[in-house]
Amino acid sequence: MTGAHDERPIGIFDSGIGGLTVTAAIRQALPTERLLYFGDNAHVPYGQRSLDEVRGFSHAIVEALIGADCKLIVIACNTASAAALASLRAAHPGLPFVGMEPAVKPAVEHTSTGTVGVIATTATFQSELYASIVERFAGDVEVLHQPCPGLVKQIEAGETGSPTTEAMLRGWLQPMLDRHIDALVLGCTHYPLVRPLIERIVGPGVRIIDPSPAIARRVDHLLREHALRTSATAGGLQCWTSGDPAHFAPTLEQLGLGGTEVRQARWSTAGTLILP
Ligand code: DGL
Repeated sequence: MTGAHDERPIGIFDSGIGGLTVTAAIRQALPTERLLYFGDNAHVPYGQRSLDEVRGFSHAIVEALIGADCKLIVIACNTASAAALASLRAAHPGLPFVGMEPAVKPAVEHTSTGTVGVIATTATFQSELYASIVERFAGDVEVLHQPCPGLVKQIEAGETGSPTTEAMLRGWLQPMLDRHIDALVLGCTHYPLVRPLIERIVGPGVRIIDPSPAIARRVDHLLREHALRTSATAGGLQCWTSGDPAHFAPTLEQLGLGGTEVRQARWSTAGTLILP
């Protein structure tokens, strides 16, 4: 046990409610840490925007989270990580960042059919980060990738169990099932919110890989490495959104985070983010 502690919060962000799936895993793994979450619902979905535009939002969000005294930042969004993780690290060399990347490695380790699937946003698949992960980890395994345009919108609209969402998912997943995938990577942090539908479609023969628990372990590791763990005995979560704060309640409830305070954040006309 080292003597050094740091009582500042951890900052987490996403385009909307998706990153709350990662937040729930961090909350579970690190219950004594204080978490600040921002969902950019004014701009969701990120996945159909250009990587440049998402990079701009991400830098402004991180400035605001630094203004809120965050000691570590979790980019709980695959799209924003693909767009901005490298430039954020370059811009803030003293600040530890944890980014999301599609979990191709565990899928490749699991497969016995030799074919795995990844679902993510269009922007994530267009990124260099995704290409480099496939190059590094795929080896002889065939990695099928399927963008899901419109799925984040359905999830944000609370359509997590509707026949329309199920039909959309079936349309994307059936061709991968026809090619005998036996692992499916959830490459967008919104997608665990429709995991029951995905499970129903792919059946028990396909392992679904959600990287959230691994991200929580990574946060824990970095906090220890940089002597940033809190000494508090109870942590907590506080959220902001640039959309309607009431919109968060059902998802917070679904993830066991009910009762969390959600405040209104605002983008200025100059493109800075204000977290009151
Ligand atoms: N949840 C995000 C991700 O992991 C972004 C989804 C979106 O806004 O399109 O990619």
